[in-house]
Amino acid sequence: MKPHPLVKEILITKDQINKRSEELAKEISNYYADQNVRDNTVIMIGLLKGCIPFMAKFLEYFEYNCETEYMVVSSYLGGVRTQAEPKINLDLNMSVEGEHILIVEDIIDSGATLSYVKRYLEFKGAADVKIVTLLDKPEGRKVDLAPDWFGFEVQNQFLIGFGLDYQEKLRNLPYIAIADKDKLKDWEW
Ligand code: IMP
Ligand code: MG
Repeated sequence: MKPHPLVKEILITKDQINKRSEELAKEISNYYADQNVRDNTVIMIGLLKGCIPFMAKFLEYFEYNCETEYMVVSSYLGGVRTQAEPKINLDLNMSVEGEHILIVEDIIDSGATLSYVKRYLEFKGAADVKIVTLLDKPEGRKVDLAPDWFGFEVQNQFLIGFGLDYQEKLRNLPYIAIADKDKLKDWEW
């Protein structure tokens, strides 16, 4: 299949994502098997909408008991820059008190979104909050935050595909790619 015309370069292929997701899921399942987790169940919280492809892959290989929940936290507003303060647009409808939480994210850039969500869950009484992200963009960091596990480290470039969007589109590409920024600006859908 030919890459999408807005792709400058495919950075991570579908096979690489599959393989890494399996490795992460097994490693993290083993980690929880050694912890004292309430009800022997982890509450996995996906941050919509970007988490969907990665979380689906990750879940296929995750072997520890889990419940799946979702939150919508906006930070990018469809553009290519992060706004100052993240906002919770869809909250959980369960109590996280005493729970072991695993946040599943597509990418960490400034870290603002996750640092906010992490503090929020801790404030609500979660016993433990861990983070797994498919991609980590450490050069973009504006707050002190590190994922507990990440799939791939990437450079400070605007990426699309496998959950990552440009103005809500292109999340369906089955790979992670560098976007062709010159074409993006006045692309006719
Ligand atoms: P942060 O709060 O700056 O860490 O932003 C995290 C969110 O920004 C991610 O969950 C993505 O939705 C979005 N994001 C960050 N980098 C990219 C990118 O390269 N392409 C598309 N979305 C991105
Ligand atoms: Mg996101």
